[in-house]
Amino acid sequence: MSVKAAVLRAPGAPVEITHVELDAPHAGEVEVRIAAAGVCHSDLHVVRGEWEVPTPVVLGHEGSGVVSKVGEGVTDLEVGDHVVLSWVPQCGTCRQCVNGRPWQCEVVANVVAPGGVLLDGTSRWGDGFHHYLGVSAFAERVVVPRSGAVKIRKDVPLDVVAIVGCAVATGLGAVRNTAGVPPDATVGVIGCGGVGLSVIQGARLAQASRIVACDLNPAKLEVAKRVGATETVADAAELSDLDYVFDAIGQIATTEAAIGALALGGAAVIVGLPPTGQMARFDPLALAEANQRILGSNYGSIDPQHEIPWIIDLYKAGMLDLDSLISGRRPLDQAAEALEDLAAGRTLRTLLTMEDGGL
Ligand SMILES: NC(=O)c1ccc[n+]([C@@H]2O[C@H](COP(=O)([O-])OP(=O)(O)OC[C@H]3O[C@@H](n4cnc5c(N)ncnc54)[C@H](O)[C@@H]3O)[C@@H](O)[C@H]2O)c1
Ligand SMILES: [Zn+2]
Ligand SMILES: [Zn+2]
Repeated sequence: MSVKAAVLRAPGAPVEITHVELDAPHAGEVEVRIAAAGVCHSDLHVVRGEWEVPTPVVLGHEGSGVVSKVGEGVTDLEVGDHVVLSWVPQCGTCRQCVNGRPWQCEVVANVVAPGGVLLDGTSRWGDGFHHYLGVSAFAERVVVPRSGAVKIRKDVPLDVVAIVGCAVATGLGAVRNTAGVPPDATVGVIGCGGVGLSVIQGARLAQASRIVACDLNPAKLEVAKRVGATETVADAAELSDLDYVFDAIGQIATTEAAIGALALGGAAVIVGLPPTGQMARFDPLALAEANQRILGSNYGSIDPQHEIPWIIDLYKAGMLDLDSLISGRRPLDQAAEALEDLAAGRTLRTLLTMEDGGL
């Protein structure tokens, strides 16, 4: 089948809209008709050539849709089911998966992500195209491993919940799983994009007593207050004496500021990601004497099949604001413009919507 998609032919090349051949799902895989895809800063890192991914690649890793075909052996998903896509599918058999840590699946870390392929090491895209993070949501249809599709309730807007697939799962999970923020903790959040605003909501749900949001852009700080920040600052250097500080940007200066802003016993959580190869500095003596920790957080250390439906229940119950994180919608044809808007700091999450996405 020929599928319209936003692709990158080489690092630094312009984002192009083209048609790419998509094979039918193999055993243990499903085909999904995409409803909407969120534009995340990680797509921007790839487009700018800041991370090495195999190209040509069909972009996008945050999306939702409707199951349109199931491969052999898939018995627990059927055509018509609503799904949110997960960029950490799981093999189910590696040491990490069998020990209950699917967010760290070794096959995803060693094969799927670096190879631009699905769990079996091959691509369903034709013409030499690769999958981005096993998802490639900037396309009208995708094929993903069964474990990369999370069945969700049908009474929520299918486009809005697309952002749960990356930003919201990452932010909420970083607070709840990676850091385990307890009630009454004081929290700093550097960066109020889709990821940082989700960290703020995670901290609110964890009943943090102070949530200090930091962003250079005053408009983002307004949204931060709406979703739970108790205080705001423009400069990360103003943060200090906090139990947990989340870097939701990933510039070296913000990572170092997160570590420097910790209270005794505090933890800095690295969620935002720098270009490959960049190094940050910290003072080991001060860190040890103050009993502090630096924690890396990939996909919020979540178990996608269980936590994505739970996050959507929170939204349905009115406890989580997803709508404030969505700054606009554009057709898939305008993927390049949506990425430029994000780069310029004009937008939060833009949803790319598909012509036959069923919305
Ligand atoms: N660890 C993970 O699993 C994971 C998952 C998703 C995204 N990410 C990463 O998280 C980061 C954030 O993603 P996003 O989509 O929310 O990005 P975004 O571009 O929407 O948000 C970044 C925010 O940082 C602000 N900012 C930039 N420089 C600043 C500075 N020096 N001081 C204060 N504020 C500043 C911008 O105004 C913007 O609001 C990216 O690096 C992305 O790759 C990591
Ligand atoms: Zn993302
Ligand atoms: Zn595994």
